Amino acid sequence: MEKTIAQIKADALDALKENDMAPQAIQDLVVKFLGRKGEVTQFLRNISKLPAAQRPMAGKQANALKKELSAIFDEALDVANNRAGQTEAPIDVSLPGRKKPRGTYHPITQVNQQICDIFTKMGFDIAEGPEVENDYHNFEALNIPKNHPARDMQDTFYVSDNIVLRTHTSPIQVRVMEKQPPPVRVIAPGKVYRCDSDLTHTPMFHQVEGLFVDENVSFGDLKGVLTAFVHQMFDDQTSLRFRPSFFPFTEPSAEVDILCVMCRGKGCRVCSRTGWLEVLGSGMVHPAVFENVGYDTNRYAGFAFGMGVERIAMLKYGIDDLRRFFENDLRFLNQF
Ligand code: PHE
Repeated sequence: MEKTIAQIKADALDALKENDMAPQAIQDLVVKFLGRKGEVTQFLRNISKLPAAQRPMAGKQANALKKELSAIFDEALDVANNRAGQTEAPIDVSLPGRKKPRGTYHPITQVNQQICDIFTKMGFDIAEGPEVENDYHNFEALNIPKNHPARDMQDTFYVSDNIVLRTHTSPIQVRVMEKQPPPVRVIAPGKVYRCDSDLTHTPMFHQVEGLFVDENVSFGDLKGVLTAFVHQMFDDQTSLRFRPSFFPFTEPSAEVDILCVMCRGKGCRVCSRTGWLEVLGSGMVHPAVFENVGYDTNRYAGFAFGMGVERIAMLKYGIDDLRRFFENDLRFLNQF
């Protein structure tokens, strides 16, 4: 026997140390050392020629080396194959590219945008105001004095005695009029907050406010603008109904219903068998509001309206649970 176990092992490891061994070169080493005629195999075969006393020890060592080398070679093969895969794998240019998932605008953002587009085309500017609002702008200036029962119409989140999360976008009307003389033609989209939560109410929702002030503005202008809006938002077969109502900051006030988009007036579950759906509040700006911002009530008149964006989106897309908008379930959102 020419080589000892230790020598075979040293030779094998030396051979493997050569840098950048290709997978085939490593395969050759496997044959050279562990193959049928390999060095380790030969050694095992020749054990019978050793003196009897040395045989058990030599057998044990040879088998251990066999195991060790095959693990080392396997590992080296893995590394070599990976390296080869990275540089040599052919690129199939006929395969379609991997698509990056694309985001979409949230349905509320989309509907908000559509509402704004319709009104800006009619000549309205966009106005904004703070979501954390003082009592004066959210209530007082809008003719809702302290202890007035109308404050109960909107359950309010109070930040402190005089500071609230705005319960509607109407305070933006006041802020706009404080800043500029008439004529005014603005819409004001934004988040509003009410202490309320069920199938049709969430503590935060979106409104779009509208305000139009000029000389000779009449209720007819209000009807004309809102009719044009509804016909563009839904379709021109969607009739409107102006129902007398009450808001402290408008007089007269009207709630606007549209013909049920589901049953077209026949009566169904969505419209509670009435054939009509309420979509917004509106009215002629109350003189008390004009006085609070220093507008001449003899010279100017105006109309205002406010609508819930979620409500419009639900009707437009036939969604029956408001909370879907806030769950961020991609299966829902991907449909828009
Ligand atoms: N601010 C009222 C609401 O939130 C809606 C409204 C706006 C009504 C403007 C009349 C005029 O319910």
